[in-house]
Amino acid sequence: MQLPPVLRAALADRLDAQSLDDLRVAGSRLTERYRAETRDGRQHLNGEAAVLAYLAARLPATFAAIRASLDAVAERRPEFAPATLLDVGAGPGTALFAARDAFPGLARATLVEASAPAMTVGAALTRRCFAGDENGGAGLAMDWVQGDAGVALAGRRPADLVTLAYVLDELAPAMLAPLVAKLWKLTAGILVIVEPGTPAGWQRILAARGHLLEAGARIVAPCPHAAACPVVAPDWCHFAERVERSRTHRLTKSGTVPYEDEKFAYLAVARSPVAPPEGRVLAPARKGSGKVALKLCTAGGTVAERLVTKREGETFRTARRLDWGDVLE
Ligand SMILES: C[S@@+](CC[C@H](N)C(=O)[O-])C[C@H]1O[C@@H](n2cnc3c(N)ncnc32)[C@H](O)[C@@H]1O
Repeated sequence: MQLPPVLRAALADRLDAQSLDDLRVAGSRLTERYRAETRDGRQHLNGEAAVLAYLAARLPATFAAIRASLDAVAERRPEFAPATLLDVGAGPGTALFAARDAFPGLARATLVEASAPAMTVGAALTRRCFAGDENGGAGLAMDWVQGDAGVALAGRRPADLVTLAYVLDELAPAMLAPLVAKLWKLTAGILVIVEPGTPAGWQRILAARGHLLEAGARIVAPCPHAAACPVVAPDWCHFAERVERSRTHRLTKSGTVPYEDEKFAYLAVARSPVAPPEGRVLAPARKGSGKVALKLCTAGGTVAERLVTKREGETFRTARRLDWGDVLE
């Protein structure tokens, strides 16, 4: 996946003049904090250096994960055309970039962010990309709100699309249920939660799923059912998106290849019911001559290996095109 050209150009303008050594140092500090899921009361994005390192090293991957999650929403609900977005823990505005790319009719966005430096960088980046006609379309009304979601969400109006991306891993576990409940109340259409594709990220998605189902939410994706999750540890439900690395991105991470694979877990729920597919592919498809083996989460609430052979004609032709994350109708 590539970033939208307008975002790629804005990132290049912001980052190309920065010292690579500074980006590398701040980037590896950030990576360590994210990997360890450090919760020491300090914000990860606690200064401009950390935010610029986030732009260089993390935004392309979190963009790709959010964009892929929104693609899964659009696939199940092709008529969904949100005009308003509420994004919580917005960072530099990643979810807004992904949402505007997926839903060009998006006209108004409210972005809540606790870190002042992240908000300053994000507000400048999103203004540059969306103000006026620079993006080739109508301007987008944006309201950046600095503050903790626990406080900053009070009195807000519901939005058609609500997003919470890569935020739950920064919160104390006891904050998950109240935040998810608040976000669900503010969801007029669809709520999308994205987390790192680690076992811990999946557990947070599962916890959010339980609370949302209890509150009456209907699952849009990835689960093709609302039964208990059939995936059993040490396995975990996650997906992957390949993202192109810019030169700065690659050098900040001291990488050698021009791409990386972002693993993510996600959940999208809606107020209204959504027809489930027969199954969703939970791992890379294994394709051999005349056969395709798919690991599927099924509408019946089970995980099953499905071997599709050439004898199945049209189903086989469909299955050959499927891969990790896709649905079998
Ligand atoms: C890893 S960044 C994710 C940014 C963006 N959503 C993305 O996916 O690229 C997490 C962001 O959530 C913000 N955040 C964490 N806890 C928050 C809270 N309680 N209220 C508001 N923002 C919060 C952090 O400051 C940080 O900018």
